[in-house]
Amino acid sequence: MMQKRNLLLLGLLLFLGACTTSKVAQNQSKGVLAKHAMVVSAKEEASQIGLAILKKGGNAFDAMVATELALAVAYPNAGNIGGGGFMVYRLANGEKGALDYREKAPSKAHRDMYLDATGKVIPDKSTLGALAIGVPGTIDALFEVHKKFGSLPMAELIQPAIDLARNGLVITPLQADFYMGKNVAEIRKANNYVTPFDKGWKAGERFKYEELAQTLERIRDNGRAEFYEGETARRMVNYVQELGGILTLEDLKNYHSQWRTPITFNYKNYTISSMPLPSSGGLCLAQILKSVAPYKIGKYPHNGEKYIQLLVEAERRAYADRAYYLGDPDFVKVPTETLLSPEYLKERMSSFSWDKASKSSEIAHGKVVGYESDETTHYSIVDAQGNAVAVTTTLNTNYGSKVYVKGGGFFLNNQMDDFSIKPGEPNTYGLVGSEKNAIAPNKRMLSSMTPTIVEENGKLRMVIGTPGGSTIITSVLQCLLNVFEYGMTMQESVSKPRFHHQWLPDDVMFEPNGFDPAVVAKLKAKGYKPKEENFVIIGKVDAILVEKDGSLEGGADPRGDDTAVGF
Ligand code: DON
Repeated sequence: MMQKRNLLLLGLLLFLGACTTSKVAQNQSKGVLAKHAMVVSAKEEASQIGLAILKKGGNAFDAMVATELALAVAYPNAGNIGGGGFMVYRLANGEKGALDYREKAPSKAHRDMYLDATGKVIPDKSTLGALAIGVPGTIDALFEVHKKFGSLPMAELIQPAIDLARNGLVITPLQADFYMGKNVAEIRKANNYVTPFDKGWKAGERFKYEELAQTLERIRDNGRAEFYEGETARRMVNYVQELGGILTLEDLKNYHSQWRTPITFNYKNYTISSMPLPSSGGLCLAQILKSVAPYKIGKYPHNGEKYIQLLVEAERRAYADRAYYLGDPDFVKVPTETLLSPEYLKERMSSFSWDKASKSSEIAHGKVVGYESDETTHYSIVDAQGNAVAVTTTLNTNYGSKVYVKGGGFFLNNQMDDFSIKPGEPNTYGLVGSEKNAIAPNKRMLSSMTPTIVEENGKLRMVIGTPGGSTIITSVLQCLLNVFEYGMTMQESVSKPRFHHQWLPDDVMFEPNGFDPAVVAKLKAKGYKPKEENFVIIGKVDAILVEKDGSLEGGADPRGDDTAVGF
């Protein structure tokens, strides 16, 4: 079982992008600098489109709408209109908030829908094809954000993505890997017609997305209702049902993204605001950072034995709690306050010893008294007024369910796999879950996405987030500590090699060639189980650091085509 989990997780990390290992180790001291405003995203075209909106006076929310749609065109394995995501914002006046546009289970979904008559999980059913699809949230969110904070007309924010789709993009060498191999085979398998992806695209070729351009034009002209009740809704539902799926027009009509209050907590001088449930991101990040705060981390050599050991042990305990306690707060009770209390976290860390590794088999979730019992993408934006948004959006794995809406030109997600399809059974990321994250109609599946905003002494300091499934939380964690404890620039922080642990499987994953073999050997001697695979990358972080003088430094992850632009 452990073996299978490892393979699943490793496979997924590969989806993050084929990368050259030398890029991971690359170490520039500072990233792109700008005086006023900045966008950092997975693709240069999308960053430039967001920047153009900022330059013509749009705010961070206007730029979010334009960038999100541009990513749906330029980065279709993860950028989307058929998926969902989370956004955390901070206004220039310090007010903070979050938008949850996570997909929901269709109303006809049920708890055991991915199990056979004997109760066994049916392979691929929750990841590939029409039954893997959750009700998409992205378009609702963009209209919601625009209604609340937008300053430029919506049509002006949608138009650049339409033009980009119509004119097409030249495929980069890194992205070419997404357009081939297993992905193409699965796209063919999931659809009943020849999609534009079937041919398998190569680097240097120009890929035009005419059907998507037309869908975006209809959305521009008819608004939110086009996607949830109009022609696009009908095409989507007809096609999904033709393929044996359960999505209905009612499901679409009833979908609404939800404003939520971020999880806000302190780490030394910093105030960190991140995504609350139904993402586990903010809660787990808070648990880990609060657990390690009492230690003198900055004194431990970076990526050395003590540093890795401490983080792994805090991660082990947080991910064990995640598996047991967390689920959609609109459906299940989660003891958030206790899970974040200093007493509880101190007790959790009390079994940690510097002498030897804890065993995941012996670390269950903590006791709460009185309590009943492949691919994502992130972008960060700061505008000239000082408003900031951190947005992580996804179809789940690359191209989601691989279902490409006939006559629509876009992929639908496979977010249903983020539910615990059977308690104790690992999902694509090797994550296990409990009854709390079981499937129920209209429920949101638990996420790890961690869009995060940091303030230092009351001022905006950092905007950050990443894809990476279960490794999202630990990637954000390490990038924060790189700056907080080791004084790195944003670019250095993002570029540094990373490691990851998630309770189960009980091993520690290392990016290749990034760690001192002597350190890894010492950890092994203490009982840790290192995994270093050639193709693994952990996270793909896009972040902005605000310098003391108010200027901005972009950290664009060298593991992908990620690009920071600003003015
Ligand atoms: O919500 C989640 O946690 C996952 N669906 C995120 C997927 C992801 O990051 C894929 N990227 N590798």
